[in-house]
Amino acid sequence: QDLVAGVDLGGTKILTVLADREGKLLARVKVPTEAALGQGHVIDKIVESVQTALREAGAPADSVRAVGMGAPGPLDPSRGWLHFAPNLGWRDVHLGEMLGSRLGLPVYLDNDANLAALGEYVYGAGRDTGDMVYITVSTGVGGGLILGGRIYHGAGGGAGEIGHITVAADGPPCGCGNTGCLEAVASGTALARRAAALVEDGRGAGILAAAGGDTGRVTARTVVQAALAGDPEALVIVRDAGRYLGIALAGLVNLLNPAAVVLGGGVIQGDAPLWEAMLEEVHRRSLESSRQAVRIVRAGLGGDAGVMGAVALAIERAGGELGRP
Ligand code: BGC
Ligand code: NA
Ligand code: ZN
Repeated sequence: QDLVAGVDLGGTKILTVLADREGKLLARVKVPTEAALGQGHVIDKIVESVQTALREAGAPADSVRAVGMGAPGPLDPSRGWLHFAPNLGWRDVHLGEMLGSRLGLPVYLDNDANLAALGEYVYGAGRDTGDMVYITVSTGVGGGLILGGRIYHGAGGGAGEIGHITVAADGPPCGCGNTGCLEAVASGTALARRAAALVEDGRGAGILAAAGGDTGRVTARTVVQAALAGDPEALVIVRDAGRYLGIALAGLVNLLNPAAVVLGGGVIQGDAPLWEAMLEEVHRRSLESSRQAVRIVRAGLGGDAGVMGAVALAIERAGGELGRP
């Protein structure tokens, strides 16, 4: 057997899969990241997840040719060095080497959103498209650019950090140290923070109800739920996030004239008010010629985009064809 493993290390969960050369999944393991328990703990969990996936598939360890992995921060893919992960609180981690020696396998690293972009391009909503922008809205806001059929990495591997584009000059602080980043106003974390502040203030009854009346359970998901149910306060929060996303997106459409923009991540799924507010801003702020050329669509792989990109990366690095099936 000739297999690859894909790992998507996120701010809240680690998803690990085992796949064959066609990208067919043989096992799938999902565990919480528990970043608060420290870096060593998270690395142990990744190693265990790969081992569990092997067991689940009944495959021997030496059947795996390569491991592709996405990590949530700017990194140098050629060295496997993670520079910074805003939502894990990690800095300068030689993640590729560390995992490679623990697993006894070659580990290829790329940014989580870059790999989600690749996943969507090879297997998902971007399959029949040209240049593509991918944006994920989850714990953080990530981005990936597929230009000329490949991930665009920039000079040092850090390209595609859409979440840290400033969209609100005097906006709230961001995990990166700046203020007013897209991530600071439109991520799941930002939505939950705004909603929690509202509830603390004695308002946000609809949001609190969606959280079962429990202040501690106010999350982005409950805000989105309340907005979908028509709660006016939740709608304001969700639409604001959509507007900021649209502002950033209009800039990217003007800059890159992409054929497609694909949006994924837990906050995007099924959230019509956010989507509409976003499209309005794109229409208002992008140049007509580029706007007419772009298809703006939801991700096709849902939460699997990142891990499928990791699989695609591993297949490519293991010397396989990275064909679009
Ligand atoms: C990081 C990105 C990452 C995104 C989603 C951002 O804070 O800077 O590199 O892709 O979160 O995890
Ligand atoms: Na990226
Ligand atoms: Zn930032």
